Amino acid sequence: MATLLLATDRTTCTVHAFKTGLQQQPLPLPLPWSNNRSVRENVPYFANLTSTIDVADVDAKSTKTLKNTTPMVAVASVSVQRKKPKPKPTTRHKQTKKLQQQQTRQTRTRTRIQRQPPGPYAFPIVGTLFDFFSRGGVDGMCDVHESMYQDYGEIYGMNLASGDVAPGEYSEVVLCDPRMYDQLLKQETRFPVGAASQVTSFVDYYQENNLTVASGSVSNGPDWKEWRQATSPDMSGLWETYLPTIAETCAKISKIAGREVSIEQNMEFGTDFLSRAAFDMFSAVLYGESPHTTNSRLVSPQDLEFVVATQRAFDITGQLMTNPIHKFLKSNLYDQFVLNMDRTFQFATDRTKEYAEDAVEARYQQQQQQQQQQEKELVGISAPPTTTTTSSISNDEDNTTRSTGSGGGTSGCPIAAIKAATSSSSSYLSHRTDRQKKKSIDTKFSNPSFVERLIHREQLSIEEISESIAPLLMAGLDTTAYQMSWFYLHMASSPDIQETLATDLHTHLGGSDVTTKEQLDSLLYLKACIRESHRLTPTGAMQVKTLPNDIDVVMSSSDDDNTQNNKKDNNTEYYCTIKAGQRISLNLRGYPMDPNYVEAPQTYQPERFLPEAIAQRKGTMAALALDHPDFADAFGRGKRRCLGANVATAEMMILAARLLQDWKIALVDDNEAIHSPTKTWKPIQKLMLRADPYPSMTLVPREKHNTLDKM
Ligand code: HEM
Repeated sequence: MATLLLATDRTTCTVHAFKTGLQQQPLPLPLPWSNNRSVRENVPYFANLTSTIDVADVDAKSTKTLKNTTPMVAVASVSVQRKKPKPKPTTRHKQTKKLQQQQTRQTRTRTRIQRQPPGPYAFPIVGTLFDFFSRGGVDGMCDVHESMYQDYGEIYGMNLASGDVAPGEYSEVVLCDPRMYDQLLKQETRFPVGAASQVTSFVDYYQENNLTVASGSVSNGPDWKEWRQATSPDMSGLWETYLPTIAETCAKISKIAGREVSIEQNMEFGTDFLSRAAFDMFSAVLYGESPHTTNSRLVSPQDLEFVVATQRAFDITGQLMTNPIHKFLKSNLYDQFVLNMDRTFQFATDRTKEYAEDAVEARYQQQQQQQQQQEKELVGISAPPTTTTTSSISNDEDNTTRSTGSGGGTSGCPIAAIKAATSSSSSYLSHRTDRQKKKSIDTKFSNPSFVERLIHREQLSIEEISESIAPLLMAGLDTTAYQMSWFYLHMASSPDIQETLATDLHTHLGGSDVTTKEQLDSLLYLKACIRESHRLTPTGAMQVKTLPNDIDVVMSSSDDDNTQNNKKDNNTEYYCTIKAGQRISLNLRGYPMDPNYVEAPQTYQPERFLPEAIAQRKGTMAALALDHPDFADAFGRGKRRCLGANVATAEMMILAARLLQDWKIALVDDNEAIHSPTKTWKPIQKLMLRADPYPSMTLVPREKHNTLDKM
């Protein structure tokens, strides 16, 4: 063991280190150093340079010494190891080194000054609530954050009656510059806090009902990781394989759309029809077939009840979040939420169980076929190839897992054996190591639904699968419906753009459905229309994050202009400390709506997102305001990015491609157009923003669409 003596100079932010023990010697320093990291966190820099320090042995207690001393001296115990041969520098190493050198240069020359985020005065108890309501309040969330951006710029603070914050301080920091938000994303820990975990009504419901798997999805620790690893490969990873099923469902939806919405007027397009369409599409992904809730002649009462209960629970959640008093007072609204959640959960669990049991049976049949094939091969009989690719369901783990129950001629009922393997209540946690080996899975199942894939993976029991599906249904229905409702409102409000899009779709697809990723990629104008809809009318004005540690965020104005002193001062770096647990938001109404960066920001202009326009503005502030990945979509970024982002995007695009090739979508009353001064609707904050009351729409068949379906 040797001792590493660290001495830092706060003014220059450099650190000097000396190794003691064997022989005291200065290391080749100064090194990049952050006073906000503990010794343990800083030491990797040393390890990189000297390759003699075992970081794991650094004494954590030294953190305190380091933080409170000026100039600081900290002692870290480190073990000295045999010098390893220097690894050959890869491009990544070179880039890291270059970055480190840049950082070192910067820290040598720049003075760092801490600043508080500006913002309205935060009163005791009510915080900045008065200011919030004066700018538009809950329903005017977009207006609030547009005006806050205008008044305070790249960063500001708010406190919406968060009792546990001292007067004058903020419970929430809002960032407008995506470069600052990126600094947070870069420091995400292994278990980052997800926005989903802030939807407290869901979290409470899962906990109160002992729903452990569902709770995992909204937790912020190893349980979340476990849940995400179990669900992500088949939802985010294999999203492309669901395209044909989604396309088939969309074709059916489009066939009856005119009849349901315009002729028989069984449902309103923007509210009922789109929610049911979202349910049909997502059910097709989950179970492999659509429940046809958009078709009033085929819909079952239970399915309809489910859609209504989910919508209701989702909307009430929005109200509970903006007014948590309901929960504390155990008001009728909270009871309503619980009632609707109970219905949703019961339905999703029962339905998933049915499909999961079918999938187990189908799997057994496949295994039987596989076994027969192998036996025939063994006795030298050349068997004809089967339609199901047996290798598609076999992988390393299959052989070991299955042999215990179903394969190898074991006695007893094979279906029961498979069921036993997949319904062991301990399976979720107990076979973790085995499960993690199963990195990829073949996609050629006879019915590649999400539930079936989970069954084939043998990672979760039937009960666990059933429990994980309900939160997905909750997360995946109205989010998609709300997003689509804004897109179609733009389409109906801008008939010329709708025509351009319909022509473009016809050029690329010639009337056919979208079933491949290549087709999706070719629909640039549709992508631009969806992207522009998100810019102008996002389903939320903000993207939300919380961090488990304090973090310093360097303000972007340090690089652009020293705004405080109104003169250039590139030697000063301003930073703001964001505290652990403090709510952080990215303002989607700042830069993307700033006329200094975006031409005619209030107008719906999808052309601004076509490749030529994007190429032209590269490297400018306009590119930052329009093309930064933080602003690109509504799914969040980082490790907690929406699990269903790929599937939801595919659903929205495939449905739009089908509907707009078949139908002209028009406002019943032209005065309800999105920027019309006579419009009667307002954006209302449910869990997300939605036009309320959503203007009525009608579907007119396009020329080639001659007959309405007689289903
Ligand atoms: C247009 C539709 C959708 C929108 C706008 C949306 C939006 C979001 C957002 C903003 C988050 C929080 C991200 C963060 O914490 O940074 C999220 C998380 C999540 N979404 Fe979506 N979502 C949509 C559709 C779906 C679908 C179809 C599913 C079904 C799989 C889904 C499942 C989830 C889940 C499970 C999470 C939690 C992820 C985690 O914390 O690891 N979402 N979504």
